[in-house]
This record gives sequence, C-alpha cells and structure tokens, in this order.
Amino acid sequence: MKFKCSSQIEAIKPYEAGKPLKEFAREYKMDKVIKLASNENALGFSPRVHDAVIRNLSQMNRYPEPVPHELCQKLAQKFNVSKKNIVIGNGSDDIIALLAHGYLNPGEEALMPLPSFLMYEISVRTAKGKPVMVPLVDFTTNLDGLIEKLTPQTRMVFITNPFNPTGASITTDDFNRFAQKVPDDVLIVVDEAYIEFVRDAAVYNSLARPLKDKRIVTLRTFSKAYGLAGFRVGYGIMDEQIAQILNRIRQPFNVNGLAQVAAVAALEDDIFLNQSITATHDGLDYLFSELNKMEIECLPTQANFFMLNVKADATKVFEDMLQYGVIVRSMKSYGYNTYLRINTGTMDENSAFIDALKQVLQKQAR
Ligand SMILES: Cc1ncc(COP(=O)(O)O)c(C=O)c1O
Repeated sequence: MKFKCSSQIEAIKPYEAGKPLKEFAREYKMDKVIKLASNENALGFSPRVHDAVIRNLSQMNRYPEPVPHELCQKLAQKFNVSKKNIVIGNGSDDIIALLAHGYLNPGEEALMPLPSFLMYEISVRTAKGKPVMVPLVDFTTNLDGLIEKLTPQTRMVFITNPFNPTGASITTDDFNRFAQKVPDDVLIVVDEAYIEFVRDAAVYNSLARPLKDKRIVTLRTFSKAYGLAGFRVGYGIMDEQIAQILNRIRQPFNVNGLAQVAAVAALEDDIFLNQSITATHDGLDYLFSELNKMEIECLPTQANFFMLNVKADATKVFEDMLQYGVIVRSMKSYGYNTYLRINTGTMDENSAFIDALKQVLQKQAR
C-alpha cells in the first residue's frame, strides 16, 4: 500500500468489543438476547438519569460545558478533593489515552500486566511509547514482576484493581509494598473501574486517602456500577499538575452534554447504586453456587464478572451458547483456552445462562 501507517500503530491488535446486542439479534434473528460479555450493568440505570436526560434534551443544540462544572463539584465533594484534581473523560478510556499522550516521549516505557485491559497497550502504542508487559501469576497481577521491569525509561505503570479479565484484586498491604519500590518520577495509574463491587475490606482503594501520594492517578467510570456505559463518562483523580496537563491536551468538549447530565443525576441516586451492587453480589452468589454444583471451577472475584473453566474449547462453548441467545466472552484470545468470562445479569438472565451452559456442555460431552 502507498500510505504506510506508523510501525507502532501497525503493531496494535484491534480492540475486540463484545458484540452489540442489536447486531447479534439481527445476525441470529432472535428477539431476546442475553449479553453477559462486556461487564455492563444488567439493571440499567437510575430513573433519575432518565428524567434528567429527557429534561435536558432540548438544550442539545448548544455545546456542552468544556469543564463539566456540576459533575466536577459533585465528585470533589464525594471524594473530598478539589475540582482541580479531577479530569472527566469520554469514558475512562479517554483518560488512559490522555495519560499516555501526556506523559510518554517516543520509546519511553509503560508497564502493564499481561493480559490486561487492551486500551492500555493501544494508548501507549498510539502515543509512540513502549508497552512492557508482565505476565500474571496465578491469574493475579505480578507486582514483583512489574518492579523487576522498571528501567530509567519507565514513565508509568498500570494497575487494575479489581483486575479485568480475572476478577483478582490487590490488598492495601501488597499495594503499599509495591508503591514503595516505584521511583518518584513514575506514575502509578490505578484503574478502579470495578471498585464499587468490592466486598473484601482488605482490597486496596486508592481514594480511601486521596492524593496522599502524588504519583497515584485513580481512574473510575460511570459505565459499570452506575450503568451508564452507553453515555461514556469516566473520571480521573490526580495531582493538580497532572490534571492540568491532561486538560491541556484533551478535546475541549470531550464529554457530551447528555453524558454530563446523566452522570450528575447518577451521583444523586445512591439507592440505585446500592441496588446495583446488591443485585451483582446476589447474582455472583447464585452463579458460583450453581456452577459449583456442576463442578465447574470459578476464579474468585471482587468485580461484577468472573472467569470459569469449562474444561472444553472456550470458543466452541461461546459459539454454542450463542444458539441459546446467550453471549459470553471466550478467554481463548487471552491464552486461557478453556475459560469463559461472564458478568452477572438479572436473576432471570443468570438462570438462563446456567440452563444454556448445562445443555451446551452436555451436548459437547456426547
Ligand atoms: C479495567 C477497565 N478499565 C477501563 C474500562 C473502560 O471503561 P469506560 O467505559 O469508562 O471507558 C473498562 C471497560 O470495560 C475496564 O474493564
């Protein structure tokens, strides 16, 4: 081809999103589809979000606020930080990309676990940085392994807690031991997309003592516990100087008007948030108990999803589950050939998943 993209970009493996529901329903000619593949919130979102979006729809001929004032104010209050410490993004994906672009010179290194949430690698490569990947040990972030890979070229390290795709988590003690060994000039990006679902009090939460350590950048999202994945809003809490850099390079209107309104309304409804979290825990308990009866090993999780070992070709099981209208995630492309990852759905969806899995595995055993 005449036009050659940069070699860094050529090396990027495209992000494989879970198939959108509509596309799936069209392809398989099904009207009822159960999607448990993208760690979304099956309960939907708060009715307050619905009302606020409808109320504000007629304003959408106007540009949104470049810095979402009300949203920043609410988050600042919630976490006891200043508005100057907050950056809002078009999903937390946006902030991952801003960090890579803001803090990596060509060839400089960003450490991350392998496998990881793919946007870390994509963002680092797009920023012409060098991703340095450290394989998991027993499905868990290898903190010592990350430390071993630090070099004078390292500018940032990505930590996901709880971890996607395995659901594993890092305790406060382990995190503190790790952070002590990271040099002062290396950013520690702590992605807490699933932190609201954590049940174990020993799990590290970077906003328990926000901004105590200037190296720590916390990433959070409205896509999971708040159920706003389609609106695209995430946020980062960080040292003021870092926030200034990210705000300097982001698109001026990176968070659209309805997304701003939706996120503010979502923060005003703790009842819905708590219902979401409780439903997720109930769903996890039900699924673990049913899978246990089927003698299927499930990895422990602190998130709204988990991995299970079906002891069969995961992609084949994924494909067969589609025939029952259930979309799960095969972990084969992550190197876990016999593992699926699913998130919790509604109770009806959870039990439909169990029924479908029983049938698929029985059929495959024949
Ligand atoms: C670990 C992790 N970080 C970030 C994100 C991105 O979230 P957002 O929808 O806010 O871009 C996801 C989404 O699945 C995720 O799993």
